[in-house]
Amino acid sequence: MKEIITPKRSLSEETERLLNEQIMMEGKSSAYYLSMASWCETQGYTHSAKFLYTHSDEERGHMLKLFRYINEAGGHALQPEITDIKHSFSSLRDVFDLILEHELQVTQSIHKIVDHCFSTKDFTTFNFLQWFVIEQREEETLARRALEIFNIIGEEGIGLWTIDQELGKLHDTDKEAEEGA
Ligand SMILES: [Fe+2]
Ligand SMILES: [Fe+2]
Repeated sequence: MKEIITPKRSLSEETERLLNEQIMMEGKSSAYYLSMASWCETQGYTHSAKFLYTHSDEERGHMLKLFRYINEAGGHALQPEITDIKHSFSSLRDVFDLILEHELQVTQSIHKIVDHCFSTKDFTTFNFLQWFVIEQREEETLARRALEIFNIIGEEGIGLWTIDQELGKLHDTDKEAEEGA
């Protein structure tokens, strides 16, 4: 009988499970930011909406990175079921408070997997995850910067209008920092 050749797995089942959990997390981020973008658009915060639409796409990109890694390593990446997405927010500030809160949770989740990979000596996945470690640091900085903008400008008078303009430029500032400009 002809021997069936199966691709060799380089992932442990536990690592695969944790990475699939991270897929869920990134998928949730993407859906959450899309919902926030839509709310901002309905409220007239068009610049914040633009920022959040782009951010939602980026989170989907993070999710796809994990899909490809898991499958290439012989595991099975699972399309997550995403439910309980908030559609309404009490203010623009509320949106950005929630973003920082959410990003902090994502960082914790990434660190948990990095820790697991280190202790189980899965240095390949450990190395793959370094991209996410750096990305989370950048995302947290961006979320903190957004809240600083609220504090510096203040929401009175034309404050909210100006804040919205500035929030729309956040990605540009982020890119400049990346390029060392
Ligand atoms: Fe992400
Ligand atoms: Fe993120």
